[in-house]
Amino acid sequence: MHTPQPAALVTGASSGIGEVFARKLSQRGYYVLLVARRIDRLEKLADELENAEALQADLTADADILRVESLIKNQPNLEFLVNNAGFGVPGRFFEADAEALERMHRLHVIAIERLTHAALKGMMQRGKGNIVNVSSVAGFFNTLNSTGYCSTKAWINSFSEGLYLELKNVGAPVRVQALCPGFTYTEFHDVIKMDRSRIAKSLWMTPEAVVEDSLKGLEKNRLFVIPGWRYRLFVGLNRFLPQPLRHFIAIKFDRN
Ligand SMILES: NC(=O)c1ccc[n+]([C@@H]2O[C@H](COP(=O)([O-])OP(=O)(O)OC[C@H]3O[C@@H](n4cnc5c(N)ncnc54)[C@H](OP(=O)(O)O)[C@@H]3O)[C@@H](O)[C@H]2O)c1
Repeated sequence: MHTPQPAALVTGASSGIGEVFARKLSQRGYYVLLVARRIDRLEKLADELENAEALQADLTADADILRVESLIKNQPNLEFLVNNAGFGVPGRFFEADAEALERMHRLHVIAIERLTHAALKGMMQRGKGNIVNVSSVAGFFNTLNSTGYCSTKAWINSFSEGLYLELKNVGAPVRVQALCPGFTYTEFHDVIKMDRSRIAKSLWMTPEAVVEDSLKGLEKNRLFVIPGWRYRLFVGLNRFLPQPLRHFIAIKFDRN
């Protein structure tokens, strides 16, 4: 639908961080395009928000990526893109299901690259835009039982940084952010059947706090937003550790 309101598109809006983004952007006056596979959830949310519509898409499938790309290209007022949809594939890389790993790669890498590319042309022409790529603190580390997940999130960090610099260099009015949450209470850990009690309570954040930090970070045009001081400390310290020590710690904390 074409509306005079500025529009936002949120992938993975059927739960967790994406759903909170959709709610907050709707409160800020955006017409919100909700994308995910569970159409019942999206339609319920669209009814509740009133200024939103639901689009069912599996962003690991080429045909669905193309459909969302063309929706983006045909939106005359798209000002916000949140590339949020994601999931984990736990377990050692050589034991994990190769097809699940490929689907994760397609969702975290191919879909983000294609949707961002589709959104940028219009944003540049209109002189306005915000792109939030939901990454993870995992993008800064190599956790031994989630090599596939960590490397796709490292790609999101690298892609976001490169794009941020390119746009800055040409004075483009489009903001890019890599949002890097730590453990957050969403359905993510139900999907991978992870017992949340294995992780200290102090490390968990709410999706509301994560999204608030992202939106505040955008106002300041921050490239990397890492919600929670503990995670900022981990990432900061990790940068200064010599490689042998980083490797020792990674092996020591192998939870498999
Ligand atoms: N929760 C955490 O601790 C945490 C930490 C760091 C980063 N993250 C990142 O945060 C993002 C959001 O996850 P979440 O924590 O909010 O988990 P969540 O509640 O499980 O939400 C994941 C969203 O992604 C969508 N999705 C999954 N596969 C999809 C596909 N093939 N096509 C389209 N949509 C798909 C899901 O919708 P459907 O199932 O309806 O398709 C759902 O809306 C992910 O990128 C995740 O990696 C999460």
